[in-house]
Amino acid sequence: MYALFFQLVFRRMDAERAHHLAFRWIRLAARVPVLRTFAAALLAPRHPELRTEALGLRMHGPFGLAAGFDKNAVAVDGLAMLGFDHIEIGTVTGQPQPGNPKQRLFRLVADRALINRMGFNNEGSEAVAARLAARREVFRTTVGVNIGKTKVVPEGEATADYVLSTERLAAHADYLVVNVSSPNTPGLRSLQAVDQLRPLLAAVREAADRTVTDRRVPLLVKIAPDLADEDVDAVADLAVELGLDGIIATNTTIARDGLGLRSPAGLVAETGGLSGAPLKDRSLAVLSRLYARVGDRITLVGVGGVEDAEDVWQRILAGATLVQGYSAFVYRGPFWSRAVHKGLAARLRTSPYATLADAVGAETRKVTA
Ligand SMILES: Cc1cc2nc3c(=O)[nH]c(=O)nc-3n(C[C@H](O)[C@H](O)[C@H](O)COP(=O)(O)O)c2cc1C
Repeated sequence: MYALFFQLVFRRMDAERAHHLAFRWIRLAARVPVLRTFAAALLAPRHPELRTEALGLRMHGPFGLAAGFDKNAVAVDGLAMLGFDHIEIGTVTGQPQPGNPKQRLFRLVADRALINRMGFNNEGSEAVAARLAARREVFRTTVGVNIGKTKVVPEGEATADYVLSTERLAAHADYLVVNVSSPNTPGLRSLQAVDQLRPLLAAVREAADRTVTDRRVPLLVKIAPDLADEDVDAVADLAVELGLDGIIATNTTIARDGLGLRSPAGLVAETGGLSGAPLKDRSLAVLSRLYARVGDRITLVGVGGVEDAEDVWQRILAGATLVQGYSAFVYRGPFWSRAVHKGLAARLRTSPYATLADAVGAETRKVTA
């Protein structure tokens, strides 16, 4: 039914307009008590066997919404209402910024993919922190806060920009993510080089500990799928060395592998990060590589091309404790999360594993044994 709606309504609209329209409905639904009750009964996860502990947090399940959908934390309850077990807001930057000129979001429908060059359009960490502080929780969910560098801040001053956002946002974050992997902020991805990443992560850790003293805010780093294998290993080793809590793999890719046969060449040639189905294999490969390197010492979050319960299951077997998605939400609609939970619970039941935790990394361990 959603597929028909997508074809009739959303497909005819500019992708960003469709996003804002859907967003408005989600926010509205969370405010209307009768819709809230209905949605909570219909959509919220009701599979006790999927309950997940990760990053020292208890969650309804392992499946969450990736960063970029709710950049300013305006729809957290609406998204929780749709059944996401965690919601990663952001990317939030030190200063507010408009992002790149429109048009900056493109749907490659035939490839079940998106290309975006949004460029971290967001209201800035001060405004987002104020909104999170004022939030009266309607639906219990885990809120991750993803931070990045303000475009106009010179690369040499990037750390101060991340630290500023950390000081403002850490108190409102169940977990904090340092995003160094978006392709749409010039120079950002060079922060993934270990000699730049080490002082950045250490400074953010210190700022989080200094600002929040009643608990330890889990800190993760989000990496690109375009890193060479040796660089993936280097980030993994650094994460262990620094006592990081997690790694999120992966962001969008600048590669265009597996595209071009179905989608128009003009669209494929758009500048920006590619997400969705064509990213699946590379994101999974990066995740497996990370798990082979760090094992259970660090929580891994698998993201990139996840479309259904089987994809979530494959990420868990590869080593992910948590799994996220974004692009497939656009194509599969509001019941997506519910379908994923249902399928995942069924998959676990027919598997040799008693719990999801037992399944984490099982496939990668087999290959590396
Ligand atoms: C329109 C759009 C905006 C995004 N914005 C962000 C962002 O601000 N920060 C971030 O870390 N990732 C961002 N992402 C990347 C997603 O969080 C995710 O890593 C990527 O899309 C791969 O997952 P998917 O294939 O399920 O979409 C964005 C993705 C899309 C499609």
